[in-house]
Amino acid sequence: MLREDQIEVMIDQEKLENRIAELGKQISEDYADREIEMICVLKGGAMFMMQLAKSVTIPMTMDFMVLSSYGNELISSGEVKIKKDLDESIEGKHLLIVEDIVDTGRTLSFLSNYLLKKGAASVQICTMLDKPSRRVVPVEVKYRGFEIQDEFVLGYGLDYGQRYRNLPYVAYVKQA
Ligand code: IMP
Ligand code: MG
Repeated sequence: MLREDQIEVMIDQEKLENRIAELGKQISEDYADREIEMICVLKGGAMFMMQLAKSVTIPMTMDFMVLSSYGNELISSGEVKIKKDLDESIEGKHLLIVEDIVDTGRTLSFLSNYLLKKGAASVQICTMLDKPSRRVVPVEVKYRGFEIQDEFVLGYGLDYGQRYRNLPYVAYVKQA
């Protein structure tokens, strides 16, 4: 557990949710003539996706996936495994992957390719946060809430040892 003085608010709830509403509006305009399926990457993407979906005004469906994290950053195999796959076929569907944060890009690079191979009509990425300075594998991010510096962040779905996902804002862990 972190002490209260170890974390600092980075993006408060109002700023976060105003931006998420803008993203929802933009997505609704861009896909005006289509139906989309939002694919939530659990667990981190859950709070973001639920907030985002509230401001999407076009017909949409949702599905959920669980991917293994490769854990130790020193192991650079970059292998991603599927722990929970989609419930429904995605053949011909326009997919929007909804993720908490793009860091190295390994997870979403893997997932985009996987979904295209499974027959999706299109795959785009919507991430709440983007840490471009950390990228190892290139990924095309169509929608991003905020670009952030290389800080460890938590809250609004993001965890630190599985905790803090419930915070209604994004905070960062202060360096000692
Ligand atoms: P990557 O883009 O494949 O490196 O991995 C992204 C995943 O790593 C995200 O979905 C998060 O689960 C996790 N992650 C990366 N940076 C952070 C962070 O600052 N805080 C919490 N989780 C993070
Ligand atoms: Mg995640």
